[in-house]
Amino acid sequence: MIRRLALVQHVLFGALVVIGVWRALATGAHPAALSGATALLLLWYAVGAHRAASGPGGAPHLSSVGTAPRRVGPGGWWFLGLVVCWLLTVAVSPELIWVAFSLWLLAAHLLPLRLGVAVSVLVLAVVVLRPWPGGLTVAEVVGPAVGMVFALALSRGQQLLVRDGLERERLVASLVAAQEESELLHAELAEAQRSAGVLAERTRLSRDIHDSLAQGFSSILLLARAGVATQDAEAGRRLLTQIETSAADGLEEARRVVGALAPAPLESGLVEALRRLVARVQEETGVAGEVRVEGDVAALPPVVEVALLRVAQSALANVRQHARAGQVVVTVAEVEDSVRLDVVDDGLGFDPATLTEAPDVARGGYGLRASRQRLRELGGGLDIESEPGGGTAVSASVPLARPGGAGGAGRS
Ligand SMILES: Nc1ncnc2c1ncn2[C@@H]1O[C@H](COP(=O)(O)OP(=O)(O)OP(=O)(O)O)[C@@H](O)[C@H]1O
Ligand SMILES: [Mg+2]
Repeated sequence: MIRRLALVQHVLFGALVVIGVWRALATGAHPAALSGATALLLLWYAVGAHRAASGPGGAPHLSSVGTAPRRVGPGGWWFLGLVVCWLLTVAVSPELIWVAFSLWLLAAHLLPLRLGVAVSVLVLAVVVLRPWPGGLTVAEVVGPAVGMVFALALSRGQQLLVRDGLERERLVASLVAAQEESELLHAELAEAQRSAGVLAERTRLSRDIHDSLAQGFSSILLLARAGVATQDAEAGRRLLTQIETSAADGLEEARRVVGALAPAPLESGLVEALRRLVARVQEETGVAGEVRVEGDVAALPPVVEVALLRVAQSALANVRQHARAGQVVVTVAEVEDSVRLDVVDDGLGFDPATLTEAPDVARGGYGLRASRQRLRELGGGLDIESEPGGGTAVSASVPLARPGGAGGAGRS
């Protein structure tokens, strides 16, 4: 836009000079003096136009458009030089006064306001007095004066127009930048969500592998060791059958974990699954097991059933591995608006304070922590009561939302 305005300025200047020269020649001006003065004027104008076009902003004469300059800069000095060149041409022929219109247009752009007006009035004086050194009519004064005021007003309007244009360009640029930034943030958010999803899935898989497959393997290991140690062929056969059953269950669990389906034992409900687990522990280790049910736990949400089954699997694996218990009791109870699962044994016990927050997964110590995390995700928690020689009680609880109520896992 600034470039277009500058082009209009150049064309206007050129046209006025051509008209002036043509009229001057027609009225008998000295050709050599006229061409010398005009050439100087055009050259000076061209130098200024070129410098402004190649300078910052690239706007000939108009690099300061939008506001009048506060002090006389290089453009202002150039403009004063242009006025001097113009005075020379006017000295050769008064017909060159036409160019004054272009000077008035430039004055507002290149000079501080007051100086611009002063120079414009000076130019006006030349325009008025040069052709008619004798006497003047009112029209001969008012005509050029109106031209000057019109040119100054035009420049001012042009300045406002350009300022608006620049403002709009700045606004559009900042909007584009803001949009780019928001797109970037959106992409980052999507990436973060994807990573969080991947992490959650990994955590779920590692927990499921720990609570089902790893426990199955450790049970098989214990049975195999017992088998190696026994001399009794009948006992050996029994152990092999148990190993076969454990391996078959483990295989089925592995398929479920890979397919991310509900755990196999839950097909006939949580209580039934707990009974089978406890019976297996009793059969394989000789620890007397019992399952107690208190309240209505028949229609728990599947996520709660899965979580409680995994917690029970992990706690019973601990009973096998660490407790050397004589008895284990698993209780599942509906307590107010929550469901609780207790696994209590009368074994060796341990000091819960020795549990670390950062377990060594390779050596174990993952089970209780994973259970606690699993329950927390459902708004519940895990309590461990134990002391060396005093048995162990592991208590899991998960809140259940009333139908239509807020929070909790909600009943199905
Ligand atoms: N019923 C229990 N009786 C005695 N000690 C227990 C019992 N449950 C847990 N512990 C102790 O708490 C520790 C932590 O148990 P946790 O289940 O977190 O890990 P782990 O059984 O050692 O290994 P992982 O479960 O990862 O295979 C156990 O190493 C054990 O010392
Ligand atoms: Mg464990």
